[in-house]
Amino acid sequence: MCGIVGYIGKRAGAPIVLDGLQALEYRGYDSAGLVTINATGATLTKQVGRVAGLTAAVEPQAQPDHLAIGHTRWATHGVPSMFNAHPHTNTAKTIFVVHNGIIENYVQLRDRLQALGYQFVSETDTEVIPHLIDYYSQRLPSFTAALKAALADLRGAYAIAVITTIRPTTLYAARLSSPLVIGVGDGEHYLASDPAAIMEHTKQVLYLDDYDLATITADKISVHNLKRDKPIEHTVELLDFDNEQAQLGDYAHFMLKEIHEAPATIRSATLGRSLAAKNIVKLGGLESVVAQLKYIDRIVIVACGTSYYAGLVGEYLIEELAGIPVEVHLASEFKYRHEPFSRSTALLAISQSGETADTIAALKKVEDYGVLRLGIVNAVGSTIARMTDAGVYCHAGPEQAVASTKAFIAQVTVLIQIALHLSNGRTKLFKPLLKELDDLPAKAQIVLDQAETIKKIAAKYKDYRDFLFIGRQYNFPCALEGALKLKEVSYIHAEGYAAGEMKHGPLAMIDKDFPSFALATNSFLLDKTYSNIEEIRARKGPVVAIATVGNKHIADLADDVIYLPETLEQTQPILTAIAMQLFSYYIALARGHNVDRPRNLAKSVTVE
Ligand code: AGP
Repeated sequence: MCGIVGYIGKRAGAPIVLDGLQALEYRGYDSAGLVTINATGATLTKQVGRVAGLTAAVEPQAQPDHLAIGHTRWATHGVPSMFNAHPHTNTAKTIFVVHNGIIENYVQLRDRLQALGYQFVSETDTEVIPHLIDYYSQRLPSFTAALKAALADLRGAYAIAVITTIRPTTLYAARLSSPLVIGVGDGEHYLASDPAAIMEHTKQVLYLDDYDLATITADKISVHNLKRDKPIEHTVELLDFDNEQAQLGDYAHFMLKEIHEAPATIRSATLGRSLAAKNIVKLGGLESVVAQLKYIDRIVIVACGTSYYAGLVGEYLIEELAGIPVEVHLASEFKYRHEPFSRSTALLAISQSGETADTIAALKKVEDYGVLRLGIVNAVGSTIARMTDAGVYCHAGPEQAVASTKAFIAQVTVLIQIALHLSNGRTKLFKPLLKELDDLPAKAQIVLDQAETIKKIAAKYKDYRDFLFIGRQYNFPCALEGALKLKEVSYIHAEGYAAGEMKHGPLAMIDKDFPSFALATNSFLLDKTYSNIEEIRARKGPVVAIATVGNKHIADLADDVIYLPETLEQTQPILTAIAMQLFSYYIALARGHNVDRPRNLAKSVTVE
């Protein structure tokens, strides 16, 4: 979604803010803007397109600007244009605002302000904010009071940064349901919607909470919580990843880099947790709720996209290993369900970014239910991580490509460990799975070493317009995830289906122009999957199969086969996912797409 970067301190703010916006480019956007304030006043620059264009348009300042805010916009209201790009300003051009989120009551506010004579120049919801502040600043004793009054009028979700020529030595920041982090420097402070934008300057950060209003000068940060109406002291935290991790290295794309990080991702997600030698699983993030977990007799998983498919794998895992009933809901649907909850139900939110609005809304929905709220999150300190009672971090490091790859690997690895933890050792698979988790990074590398083979197979299928992914049991959620991966980076229509459903409809689509991706790894259901492949072949449907090395039969059935190392059914999704991620990556590449930033998509969907 949109990106926010701010700076106040002893250095020039424009270069720092522009570099920060550049670091957020991976999140997807369509326009960008920057405003700086120095002794002579404010300078506002906007561009449609990339940050590089904005950088080129920013005029060098005669006087150093020590105060600046910038924004990259992913359109929610109004088309990408100069008028709709942020920062937005009041008519007098003394107040400047950048905003992430959605002001749900902006129409009413706009009508009210226009009736008072305010002129609007954009189609955005954001523009009501500077005019509101202007209105109150003419009626209240201080700028801060005016800002508080304006925020009180807003409904919806916001992360905003505000600077004004009225207070040229102060940066204001406020958040409600959209992330904001303050970077702590020496005689300078930073503001960002994502730590990646400021981590080259500082790793000391503090995260704003909902209803926080921060007043930031070069030397001081004061936070006031508007809901509790009192000052708040936030603890300064240390970012747990650094710049080079977030950089591309010698990979062509972040997506490829992050796929190849799978072995390291599995190791990071099990490090200090899955201890085969001691035959224990140690999840520090759940220690505080161990007593409550004993009474949990139902788990409701909520997530979106790839995280939702990881949740579906989790359903099979927890039910098989721990014997606890699980249901998985799309967060965007869960919000409106009339789901019965008891105190022995736990909600488990899964999210890479920890900022997905629908998943946040699902957590908010159960806030008053008194149920245990757990999280599996990658972004440390993110909103979802801080909303849950306990959770297990993925420790996969920053995932920059829009298509989620290593996060899925990490999420499933964590879910296996949570399922084992919940089993209390009562499953016969406890020891074998701990051992398999130890061996899995090497097996993942074996899959990655087939990249060239997979690339060749992908080249054969790059021009098809449709693709069906089929799988059974643990491979069914994998089929869904494989279809999502292909569609979101190649734009090919792809859908995942339970293989057993072929006769109930999908078979009607199959002909020589409609290939299928069959997940046919070793399992007690393999013969049934063979039958599904036969059904497809009888209709001349091309078949790419994923199978277990040593399978002598599959080559007679499928046009192309990707062989994976032998593994347990419960860890199979991890190896299968890596192969499908590579397949999708190479097809998208062959189709000439921007694989890291697919059209119409953003990395973190922070609006509902
Ligand atoms: C997956 O490749 C997509 N980028 C998208 O479906 C993503 O998984 C979804 O938006 C959820 O994001 P989250 O894990 O950060 O909550």
